[in-house]
Amino acid sequence: MNSSDPTRGLRPDFLFGASTAAYQIEGAVAEDGRGRSIWDTFTAEPGRVRDGSTGAVTCDHYHRWPQDVALMRELGLDVYRFSIAWPRIQPDGRGPANRAGLDFYDRLVDALLAAGIRPMATLYHWDLPQALEDEGGWQVRETALRLGEYAGIMGELLGDRVTHWCPVNEPNVLALNGYGDGSLAPGKALAFGALPVAHHALLAHGLAVQALRAAGASGIGTATNHAPVWPLSDDDADVAAAGLFDTLWNRLFADPVLLGTYPEGIAEALPGPVADDLAVISQPLDFYGVNYYNPQGVRAAAPGAPVPFEVDVVPGYPTTDFGWPVVPAAFTDLLVGLAERYPGIPPIVVTENGCSYGTGPDENGVVDDQARIDYLDGHLRAVADAVRRGVDVRGYCCWSLLDNFEWADGFTQRFGLVHVDYGTLARTPKRSFGWYADVIRAHRARA
Ligand code: NOJ
Repeated sequence: MNSSDPTRGLRPDFLFGASTAAYQIEGAVAEDGRGRSIWDTFTAEPGRVRDGSTGAVTCDHYHRWPQDVALMRELGLDVYRFSIAWPRIQPDGRGPANRAGLDFYDRLVDALLAAGIRPMATLYHWDLPQALEDEGGWQVRETALRLGEYAGIMGELLGDRVTHWCPVNEPNVLALNGYGDGSLAPGKALAFGALPVAHHALLAHGLAVQALRAAGASGIGTATNHAPVWPLSDDDADVAAAGLFDTLWNRLFADPVLLGTYPEGIAEALPGPVADDLAVISQPLDFYGVNYYNPQGVRAAAPGAPVPFEVDVVPGYPTTDFGWPVVPAAFTDLLVGLAERYPGIPPIVVTENGCSYGTGPDENGVVDDQARIDYLDGHLRAVADAVRRGVDVRGYCCWSLLDNFEWADGFTQRFGLVHVDYGTLARTPKRSFGWYADVIRAHRARA
């Protein structure tokens, strides 16, 4: 590890945070009137989740949140990004709000503020009320309207206290993996048939921005996954496949939000009054949230495949326990590339970045996750490099505060600064937790 301070060059008021999501940490799926979500359904289907696990208990954050807020305080976080479970607020995705659901987030937000931590709320981190999926889910426009209504409810409740809002987490992953290849809930493999899903998720973002602003909320942004896309060879077919995948993964979501247009050839394939919708989708934002993990390698798919590209690991780099390549320099390039392609981009906040390593407690109870420290150190330096190259980055949230339920990979991947024993639910801060606390403290002392 490089010994100089990884945050040198970042603004004195740079925000250091950590992120989580409701279904991944809360558990308590049948409590206090929570409705069923598509993840309850998906995890109940045999073969969908690698280890057959579900989010029914996971970290039990729903009951243990005071302990988790205490950990955040110990860490010295400036900001905590969490998601609100839509099915706790509107069990069927529409109609009056469920008081117990509102109360949970109301208390959490007050506890964060009392601990000196700014709340960053994601409205939709993939847990669609099952009742809405039964009516077509993200394939139908109605779902975007429903999310707008739900955003208004949350804006009224928390608009005076939540400092940052992310309406829809990773709309590209929700569309391309939830409805494109079917690897995430609701598990539909529609290939290019998922394009309307992308449009509806973007429209939901725009409607949520409107509803939040109408409720007096401010600090509204995104949490968009971006990945540099690299062809896996110089072969023309691989280069073309990578170009197409880049359009679908990156530009399909950033162009409408930041430019008010779709990449060439896409708008024609979409349903509804697309031109009017683009005006809603491209409303001004207070920040642009970027989730970054690794670059994606792409080659041309074999003839007859459902889509003409195949995504694979870029070779030649160390990998995390998830098999994901560790390439901090690609993060700098990504941030610089965003600022170049979108000159009007609002200040960037890194809404997620992190790595999966399975390190557990040793015989003394110490979780010595040096690999995570190296990853985070390298990626913070990559952010500082982007800042030196003129990109306005205002904050960084590590994924994740806690080890948690990693979607289709269940409990096989651990991303936390804090180790969770899923038998006892005991929390053990890892060495990376202490390292991150020191980084935050040192930056503050210098500011
Ligand atoms: C992005 C997602 O938002 C989050 O839910 C997930 O756990 C991480 N990536 C790691 O895969």
